Amino acid sequence: MEAFQYKGNELFCEDVPVARLAEEFGTPLWVYSQAKFLSEFNAIRDAFAALDPVICYSVKSNSNISLLKLLGDAGSSFDVVSGGELFRVQQAGAETSKVIFAGVGKTDAEIRYGLEADILMFNVESEPELDAISAVAKSMGKVARVALRLNPDIDAKTHSKTTTGKKGNKFGMDIERHNALAAKVLKDDHLELRGIHMHLGSPILTTEPYEEAAKKALEVVTELRKQGHQTNWVNLGGGFGLSYRGSEAPPASEYAKVILPYIQEAKCRLALEPGRSICGNAGVLLGRVIFTKREGGKRFIIQDAAMNDLVRPAMYGSFHKIWPVKPTVAAPSDFEAAEIPGCEPADVVGPICESGDTFATGRALPPVERGDLLATFSAGAYGTVMSSNYNSRPRGAEVLVDGNKARLIRKRETLEDLIAAERV
Ligand code: LLP
Repeated sequence: MEAFQYKGNELFCEDVPVARLAEEFGTPLWVYSQAKFLSEFNAIRDAFAALDPVICYSVKSNSNISLLKLLGDAGSSFDVVSGGELFRVQQAGAETSKVIFAGVGKTDAEIRYGLEADILMFNVESEPELDAISAVAKSMGKVARVALRLNPDIDAKTHSKTTTGKKGNKFGMDIERHNALAAKVLKDDHLELRGIHMHLGSPILTTEPYEEAAKKALEVVTELRKQGHQTNWVNLGGGFGLSYRGSEAPPASEYAKVILPYIQEAKCRLALEPGRSICGNAGVLLGRVIFTKREGGKRFIIQDAAMNDLVRPAMYGSFHKIWPVKPTVAAPSDFEAAEIPGCEPADVVGPICESGDTFATGRALPPVERGDLLATFSAGAYGTVMSSNYNSRPRGAEVLVDGNKARLIRKRETLEDLIAAERV
């Protein structure tokens, strides 16, 4: 489904004109579509239904507790990477018995928290971590359920900063260490090996890396069982693609097609950790044009949404569609086209004091003026969660739309919020 659509030359989220939300809640403003969140979650669940997978929504992609509650109520579980994320899951009132705890640097306090919450399992990334989990579990008189994270050395062909399954990345372990640690778990009364974990990177726009990973999982599980392990879970992580530009990401059913046969043959339970593909296109970031100017032969549109709100363009050079909320030119099918009738190239920038604070460079855009609203699309994933107070800018509000209703799910920060934790 399309959550955001132009109707009568004005952008709507479901049945709500987003300009109305900007009036009511101010800008920068994050607007989310509830129906889109749920339809993307359901698409993954349905695509993998033959295996009744545990879908652990990756909290890091968007961790607002209203959204966690929404997904928890829809049957999602959660992938967390910190005590903070586990706390959020609990605050959302979600069950923790199917939570998976990942991350290369879990502290003893976080391990203890995970054991207290009786989570489904820890994804373990190194021998020292395995030892730490065993020691904490022993001190609590518990048995920790673990999966070992294999670094399968598969090139997911994504951004170098978000590739995680290649030899040389900090994540996981090679097959030799994996097998050695599996043997170690077998001898430890405070550890139980549940399965194998892999996460290749994000976003992955082809299905081949998943097929390779699923095939590898089948081989490893078969081998482990020969050695007496009870391994019965395969967790293939997250990373499913998102269509930022058009429809470049395969649907969940395509990933399922290549993954399912191997997991069925392995007779394992399947866990997945999707984040971006569920929340990415369920959100936009609204900014209001503060000024426009022409300088150095260029046209600049300066809006009040900046790199402290959405850091992805500055950090990864990421492409996000941008278009006015009430455009004088209909939204094109190709937002990257060098020339669009009625448009002129512009750099879309924020107020922050560095040139990297740029959402788009030389982008064909219709005329806009001071006070107009711009929408930056595909901002639901890795937007708010990576936002900061850089330049002492309060973070924007978040609004969730359901049909013709909208409710505030995070209030705008105030100037007082900026210094609330500081002491003189
Ligand atoms: N599981 C693990 C172990 C992960 O490291 C990640 C993402 C996921 C699941 C979820 O991946 P997803 O389904 O959302 O692709 N900030 C970057 C993305 C970093 C991804 C980190 N790990 C960005 O804005 O593109």
